[in-house]
Amino acid sequence: MKTLLTGGAGYIGTHTAIELLQHGHDVVIFDNFSNSHLEAVRRVETITGQHVPTIQGDVRDQYALTDALTQHGIDSVVHFAGKKAVGESVSQPIDYFDNNVNGTLVLLRAMQACKVFKLVFSSSATVYGTPSYLPLDERHPTSSTNPYGRSKLMVEEILADVHHSSSNWALTVLRYFNPIGAHPSGCIGEDPADIPNNLLPYIAQVAVGRREHIQVLGNDYDTPDGTGVRDYLHVVDLARGHVKALERLQHLTGPELQTINLGTGQGHSVLEVIRAFEQACGKSLPYIMAPRRPGDIASCYANPARAQELLGWTAEYDLATMCADAWRWQSANPKGYRG
Ligand code: NAD
Ligand code: UFG
Repeated sequence: MKTLLTGGAGYIGTHTAIELLQHGHDVVIFDNFSNSHLEAVRRVETITGQHVPTIQGDVRDQYALTDALTQHGIDSVVHFAGKKAVGESVSQPIDYFDNNVNGTLVLLRAMQACKVFKLVFSSSATVYGTPSYLPLDERHPTSSTNPYGRSKLMVEEILADVHHSSSNWALTVLRYFNPIGAHPSGCIGEDPADIPNNLLPYIAQVAVGRREHIQVLGNDYDTPDGTGVRDYLHVVDLARGHVKALERLQHLTGPELQTINLGTGQGHSVLEVIRAFEQACGKSLPYIMAPRRPGDIASCYANPARAQELLGWTAEYDLATMCADAWRWQSANPKGYRG
């Protein structure tokens, strides 16, 4: 199997590249490096001892994609490339729809031209909107409150139409819950370009002394301790879910569209995560209570039964391991790849 990883130099892409290589598959990375560093790919090569062909290109460039697909004899694609900051998507909707929706359309066109019909798409639990029941299974109604979420929903709908249009395509939509942690080597991990929007990289930067204190965004939710509850998932577990999804597509002979949650099925509150990180880094972390973040929901966690049933995948790592691995990465690389 030879897989093109669009956005493969990013956080989830690099971890997936390692798992694919370690399972005997070939990968080619295609990334415009708008939110990543070539150094991350070099580290993937060091960890795996394998060369990773890497193309600097934009998924909105059909010629560059067509070239990559044909020159490298690609038979499947994992489409990670896109922009992912919810707040930024509100102020830059055109950029978000262009990158995430238009980028996917151009990719599909290039794949069709090259007769590459197997695709895994990075979607998100954000498409469930405000949960009407928990845990969230894939039949839960979808909705979105921001351009980022809408871009994911639009792509999901486009993929459904593409699937109906011909018997060629085998498509898997993976809805990720909250990926955190880092490769156990401590050599690759999450490296936000700006002030982190997400809880875990923020906590890690406080622990390493780059930020003063954590803000707990809301302590009056209807949850056991009043703080938001999420389904945190080790990025290595998430990466292994992609290996399973691709291997399944590889063995399929007919057309298909499957939508699959990747989560642990367990929720943890913000305060629980802070405590787990304190254990991991061996120090107490300053935090203050702050108002709720607009658009946030109280609780969100997966029903991961379909992933187990279709992929034989379940998450292995617990919150303590996620925090220990995130800390190993952050403490060894306090300034991320720039250091
Ligand atoms: P990331 O920003 O680390 O990785 C995305 C990669 O895509 C980056 O390397 C970036 O340079 C590249 N990229 C962006 N636009 C591109 C373009 N037009 N052409 C080529 N490359 C481009 O993000 P990530 O956390 O690894 O997320 C990967 C995917 O998973 C994204 O689609 C994201 O929306 C989705 N997702 C992420 C999370 C999360 O919490 N990290 C949760 C749910 C879904
Ligand atoms: N939180 C804080 N302080 C912070 C940041 C977050 O208390 O500084 C809280 C939030 O209020 C929430 C929890 O920590 O209760 C998790 O917040 P994140 O920003 O880490 O994650 P979200 O669940 O809000 O969203 C993330 C991604 C989305 C994706 C979603 C589901 O940012 O793009 O997970 O995959 F859609």
